[in-house]
Amino acid sequence: MSDRKLVISKEQIQDKVNELAAQINADYAGKDLVLIGVLNGAFIFLADLARSITIPHQIDFIRVASYGNSSSSSGSIRLSKDVELNMTTKHVLMVEDIIDTGSTLAWLMEKFQSANAASVKICTLIDKKERRQSNVPVDYVGFSLEKGFLIGYGLDYAEQYRYLPEIFTLEF
Ligand code: IMP
Ligand code: MG
Repeated sequence: MSDRKLVISKEQIQDKVNELAAQINADYAGKDLVLIGVLNGAFIFLADLARSITIPHQIDFIRVASYGNSSSSSGSIRLSKDVELNMTTKHVLMVEDIIDTGSTLAWLMEKFQSANAASVKICTLIDKKERRQSNVPVDYVGFSLEKGFLIGYGLDYAEQYRYLPEIFTLEF
């Protein structure tokens, strides 16, 4: 059986989301901004972030498969749902739940840069550093931590726990 421990409360998440949104409002004022949520994990973070951002922006989603149903990366990345908006000349901000090895975002970064976006940046709620392999630049970070397996607020283990309103570590 696995145990869970609270690591980030609702209030901490809400404060951080507002802080990130304020930075994004300032940085992207007057620019053609598109938020791209990386499904499935980012759906809750993106929904809160978008409602806290007050400048006009578009929203689209992309889905890549890399993890399967386990807690360790399979290493390979496959596009399973592409974006539908045209990214040419847009300022793309990819919104992720968590960065672990960095392979997913490094792969996505390359994809959008070759789609001739005006800029491509990354906003992640959680930056988990211990297993980083790709040196991908992360522009907006909510919370940084070394390691651990997190669930809740969109983050899953085998598609469970995404609905939890706070973030927990899962101890196996
Ligand atoms: P990366 O390509 O190794 O950076 O993997 C990123 C993806 O792995 C995230 O978008 C999550 O879907 C998943 N992932 C990595 N760490 C965790 C975790 O602690 N909890 C839940 N999902 C995770
Ligand atoms: Mg994800």
